[in-house]
Amino acid sequence: MSIINKAAAIGGGVIGAGWVARLLLNGIDVSIFDPDPEASRKVGEVMKGARRAYKQMLAGGLPKEGKLTFAKTIAEAVADADFIQESVPERLDLKHKVLAEIDAHAPANAIVGSSTSGIKPTDMQVAMKKHPERLVVGHPFNPVYLLPLVEIVGGEQTFPEAIEVAKELYASIGMKPVVVRKEIEAFVGDRLLEAAWREALWLVKDGICTVEELDDIMRYSFGLRWAQMGMFQVYRVAGGEAGMRHFMAQFGPCLKWPWTKLMDVPEFNDELVDLIATQSDEQAHGLSIRELEKIRDDNLVAIMEALSKQNKGKGWGAGALHKDYTRQLAKLAAKKTPAKAVAKAKATKPAKKAAKPAKAEKPTKAGKADKAKKSKKKG
Ligand SMILES: NC(=O)c1ccc[n+]([C@@H]2O[C@H](COP(=O)([O-])OP(=O)(O)OC[C@H]3O[C@@H](n4cnc5c(N)ncnc54)[C@H](O)[C@@H]3O)[C@@H](O)[C@H]2O)c1
Repeated sequence: MSIINKAAAIGGGVIGAGWVARLLLNGIDVSIFDPDPEASRKVGEVMKGARRAYKQMLAGGLPKEGKLTFAKTIAEAVADADFIQESVPERLDLKHKVLAEIDAHAPANAIVGSSTSGIKPTDMQVAMKKHPERLVVGHPFNPVYLLPLVEIVGGEQTFPEAIEVAKELYASIGMKPVVVRKEIEAFVGDRLLEAAWREALWLVKDGICTVEELDDIMRYSFGLRWAQMGMFQVYRVAGGEAGMRHFMAQFGPCLKWPWTKLMDVPEFNDELVDLIATQSDEQAHGLSIRELEKIRDDNLVAIMEALSKQNKGKGWGAGALHKDYTRQLAKLAAKKTPAKAVAKAKATKPAKKAAKPAKAEKPTKAGKADKAKKSKKKG
């Protein structure tokens, strides 16, 4: 059950709208600010996709959605929120401006998460004059409403208690928080992705493969392995009975061979963009982005559901979390408002007993967060 009473989303693009979807589908009210006049339509599109995906996960129906309000200013959006997620474009000057405004108007004990893909929280929290100690990076992966991982990173001024509360907040909406132990640019996920992306650009630029061939090489092979065991455990198994030590003895020396171009970056010019974009258009075979999003979401749900049945039914990796999350949502869905439940029961079963009104929810959410936040203040 979520411990968030009221959330605010600042920025409602690809990532902001993904956060809004996850929060609303967990029954949490969200106030959003985005100056784009098209924001409401764009968030609506993402909500449609998210509802569709969640319907596949929850045969018994979805929980009652939270209420979405479009605010006219950041001040209005954050006024009574206990959790605020910033997802504005990746520019330090803009992050400073927006975080300063959030900080000036948000309740003192609200947690502020930034979706930044790589800016260090220390470099962002300097703009927060009142409570920089409550800023964490909460770096998600697209689509935020389906992929559970969130990297949490604290800056020099972040209180350890804020990280603990953030962990609880994100976990309460079905996510897997991993706290990055040392603050570095791009954290862990994007360090890895950046390295693979750089190599991919070289391989296509040098004519070694097309974008479609590269994606096939990935999705028919190690992409499948990574989804279920990650990198190190896969290599442990690849070492045979002698495991990781044997694997390292065998492949360690390759690190010195000219296998990769590593830190070199191909020149980012129009020619490279045209090459990649044209091949990417061909690869899509006319499918629109929205159509590709549906395919992606269906596949992700199917993968997580398959993994949830592994390990003697206990679930494995993201599948184990998926199992818990769908159970949590199903419980929430069962707690429809008593009036509605009674009306529905009357409509479907006119005879016998009316459905028992559901028990009122225990006021645990805010209490838990407050307790942690109080201790944060002490720190
Ligand atoms: N796209 C990804 O795959 C991805 C993944 C993880 C994290 N991120 C991070 O998430 C953040 C947002 O990225 P995105 O891909 O959603 O970008 P986006 O361009 O899709 O969305 C940004 C949104 O912010 C809005 N915006 C601009 N100025 C604003 C302001 N002053 N106040 C409020 N809203 C404002 C824009 O109108 C737009 O809707 C970035 O920090 C990015 O690095 C992106």
